[in-house]
Amino acid sequence: MARLNSSLLLFLSVNLLHLFHTAVSRGGQRDYSGFVDNSFAVSGRHLFEENRFQKLNNLAHGYMTNSDLEKAIKAFHGRCGRISRIYSIGKSVLGVPLWAMEISNKPGKEEAKPAFKFIGNVHGDEPVGRELLLLLANWLCDNYMKDPLATLIVDNVHLHLLPSMNPDGFSLRSRGNANNVDLNRDFPDQFFQMNDDLGERQPETKAIMNWIKKIRFTASASLHGGALVANYPWDGTQDKSKNYYACPDDEAFRYMAKLYSGSHYNMSQSREFKAGITNGAYWYPIYGGMQDWNYIYGGCFELTLEISDNKWPPANELHTIWQYNKRSMLDLVASLVKSGVHGRVFSSDCGEPLPASIAIKGINYTIKAGERFADYHRLLAPGHQYEVTAMMPGYKTRTTTIKMGEEATQLDFILEPTSSLLPRRPCKRSSMEILEVISKPHFQVALTLMLVLAFLCFLMKRKVISNHFRGRKAIGQRRVTAV
Ligand SMILES: *[C@@H]1O[C@H](CO)[C@@H](O)[C@H](O)[C@H]1NC(C)=O
Ligand SMILES: *[C@@H]1O[C@H](CO)[C@@H](O)[C@H](O)[C@H]1NC(C)=O
Ligand SMILES: [Zn+2]
Repeated sequence: MARLNSSLLLFLSVNLLHLFHTAVSRGGQRDYSGFVDNSFAVSGRHLFEENRFQKLNNLAHGYMTNSDLEKAIKAFHGRCGRISRIYSIGKSVLGVPLWAMEISNKPGKEEAKPAFKFIGNVHGDEPVGRELLLLLANWLCDNYMKDPLATLIVDNVHLHLLPSMNPDGFSLRSRGNANNVDLNRDFPDQFFQMNDDLGERQPETKAIMNWIKKIRFTASASLHGGALVANYPWDGTQDKSKNYYACPDDEAFRYMAKLYSGSHYNMSQSREFKAGITNGAYWYPIYGGMQDWNYIYGGCFELTLEISDNKWPPANELHTIWQYNKRSMLDLVASLVKSGVHGRVFSSDCGEPLPASIAIKGINYTIKAGERFADYHRLLAPGHQYEVTAMMPGYKTRTTTIKMGEEATQLDFILEPTSSLLPRRPCKRSSMEILEVISKPHFQVALTLMLVLAFLCFLMKRKVISNHFRGRKAIGQRRVTAV
């Protein structure tokens, strides 16, 4: 009888173990971490959690505490103030500031450049990302003007790093936040009515959503642990089935994910995931995740990166993990400059920047050019031809075909007002003012350019390609396309 009982207990525990494994998903579908030891099989879940806490607590040796992290961020800024800015995007449930660092040669300044964000420690018990982001920030600082990739990134991208989205979860050694909510399930979902109540939304989630509305990120990645794979949208399926569910930009996402895994020490050698990448829903569907929300509502191409099999490795392994991921992280950020199609949109009558919509034929996803500079940054998989269209109410739509090679393409649009009486944006500024906005330090270049533009507009009434506005010069890889 006693024997029966203990085997029943064992049976129940093993099942609990399975439950636990499927519950800790996206950012550790399975717990590879060695915390699941044999002692668990004869104890209950509660004991297990305590054991786990104890082990995580011991493992925290050598990791930054939340106050260490804040000090490290401030120290970074103290050292690298010329190319950085630090700010908080909000507070956690327990009132810990969510510190972010921006790295750029013009930190805090709005420019016609793409922005990228990395978010670490979404899950409290996956702390590798928060350490790596500090290493990344300091590496960029130390190598700016020395290493070509560091220089390319600092000069051409606004890179935002949020080392910890979940500082409370970190100090509690728990996956969820202080309210025990999994933050990667707390976003509004495209298929199911969930997380739609603003009052219920966690402060960490709110902070991220406001951040994305404020800054026009072109792409991003969140850092998780528990597997080694680059995961891309969609994360969920409409019918909850576990199937490959491609988003409109599947090709571009596969390209980005492959870029990450291919530059990683050994992610691409995965036996579990072909090429070290996976469609989220194909792996296992989740709902309310941050990744899909970014793509749908933020115009931001986000990957979910699982960067170590072990969720919470001993601190002496962090440096190696950083070395394994460093090139991937840099390459992913640099892809915003080295690939895709980029440009600005102007009106032909007064050169006003137009926040037009940019669409690609065959891809059901539209991005908007920026309000201020009318710049757009559209990631696209190389090796194809694309039909790019710029649309703006009150102006004639323009379409042109580009061949996307291995380098970025610059494509500016000049839109003509429609002859109809539709309301359109009036010429607000004089041309001198526009020149100032466009390019103060390169006044002569801009002046020549404007004269050429005016000339072509006048004589040919055709679309004109302009090039080499500020910030474009430094980009050797960029191919300029004329239409
Ligand atoms: C990658 O290398 C690490 C360290 O050597 C090893 O633990 C891991 O199993 C390797 N993963 C793959 C997919 O080869
Ligand atoms: C395009 O995507 C939207 C959602 O963003 C959807 O409502 C619409 O049906 C899609 N159109 C096509 C042709 O697939
Ligand atoms: Zn995770």
